[in-house]
Amino acid sequence: MKATSKIAIFDTTLRDGEQAAGTRLGSRDKITLARQLARLKVDIIEAGFPASSPDDFESVRRIALEIKGPIICALSRAVPEDIDACGRALAKAARPRIHTGIGVSDIHIMGKFRDDRYGKTLAGKKAKLIAIAVESVKRARKCVDDVQFYAEDAGRAEASYLFQMLEAVIDAGATVVNIPDTTGYTVPEQYGALIAGIRENVPNIARAVISVHCHDDLGLAVANSLAGVRNGARQVEGTINGIGERAGNAALEEVVMGLRTRADYYGKTTSIDPKEFFRTSRMVADMLGMPVPANKAVIGTNAFAHSSGIHVDGFLKDRQTYEIMMPADVGFTESRVVLTARTGRAGLRSRLEKLGYELTKPELDTMYQRFLAVADKKQEVLDEDLAALVHDELPPVEQAYKLEYLHCYSGTTAIPTATVRLQMKGKTVEGASIGDGPVDAVYKAIASLTATKAKLLRYDIRAVTGGTEAMGEVTVHLEIGARHVMGRGASTDVIEASAKAYVDGLNRLG
Ligand code: KIV
Ligand code: ZN
Repeated sequence: MKATSKIAIFDTTLRDGEQAAGTRLGSRDKITLARQLARLKVDIIEAGFPASSPDDFESVRRIALEIKGPIICALSRAVPEDIDACGRALAKAARPRIHTGIGVSDIHIMGKFRDDRYGKTLAGKKAKLIAIAVESVKRARKCVDDVQFYAEDAGRAEASYLFQMLEAVIDAGATVVNIPDTTGYTVPEQYGALIAGIRENVPNIARAVISVHCHDDLGLAVANSLAGVRNGARQVEGTINGIGERAGNAALEEVVMGLRTRADYYGKTTSIDPKEFFRTSRMVADMLGMPVPANKAVIGTNAFAHSSGIHVDGFLKDRQTYEIMMPADVGFTESRVVLTARTGRAGLRSRLEKLGYELTKPELDTMYQRFLAVADKKQEVLDEDLAALVHDELPPVEQAYKLEYLHCYSGTTAIPTATVRLQMKGKTVEGASIGDGPVDAVYKAIASLTATKAKLLRYDIRAVTGGTEAMGEVTVHLEIGARHVMGRGASTDVIEASAKAYVDGLNRLG
């Protein structure tokens, strides 16, 4: 693809994203997040609004100092003190950008600049605001070479005034012109036409990059951004998880995966490493206390989960029947088949096989009936539930190993030590090991006695009944080579339950 086909990704999670109602990020979280955004390979990080508070100034200053790679941008109003604060906060950035701007819609002009010092009439105010914008861009250019201008509420502005404003600020030295749909009012055809109109009607537009900045009040932020790209924008602004003022901003993970998945249509690339999306998304959700909805496009927990029988059957035959992206491409480990009453036999069989259980047709028929009975009572049937059903229903596997005796010693000052005796293929063997904890010591002793090298993928424990004398049920997922099995053990002693589960898993590995 040609060099011009690259779309720059401008992340404003730390600025517009943090404007989401009820959220506030501390300086340390901001730096951690900026580091992750650099790993995601965004082109520009809008680090904050230095004039808004000493805390924000300090965060921008530290991000400018510490984060290498992306351009570091700071926001200002078209006010000299704001611009100077940006200049100071960005002084140590390798690649600084100041983002300044002013309202351009009649609603903003008459509402926010009603004071007579901005002019007495709408026409007078419009002329005055162009002069202020030009002065601001010039002032910012004295601090940095890269100045982005935002025409606030461009989505509702009179087009000819917007064109005039853009021409003036580009002449004053703006390198990027940002066309915000501040209130999320436009629809894709209209916003796309606005970007096309700018390219046609602003004579010096070739000297600047057009950036799109869309809000999600009508749920159209991503669609509008993509329409902007389709019509010549070369930079897209947005936030991780789409957080931001009111309904939020365009979700960057959706914009990027839209461009990537439909490269056939858009013919554009980005520098983003999408494998970092999942991690970044969860970091933002945790830091801001705003969980990601399960059905959220691209990074919701259900984005790669299949549940109904028809879908599961098709997906298992060929994942492309119901998936347009690979989960690993955005950082998920794998797709999920969620077992519910609607899943069907094929889904059940596939999951059982994954867990290491191979059932004959009659066994599967019986299991399916038992599965349905459980699924009717529960929202989702978990692997642990399936294991319980199988253990109940099917004859036990051949017992190559049997736990005969277990003694374990641990405490706050003792090194955890386990002695284990096993029946192993007709012989009795006994040995001891130390470990990081009692369960680890037991597992090391068993692995050494059986000379097995199973990898412990997962260990879960749950109380089967209530109270301190509860039965503990342990489930382990073990892997040797390509074989993956699940073992279970129950006892009122959780260490014994752990040992039984491990031995059960080894027996199933055969
Ligand atoms: O939505 C908006 O108009 C903004 C500007 C400050 C860029 O966030
Ligand atoms: Zn915004």
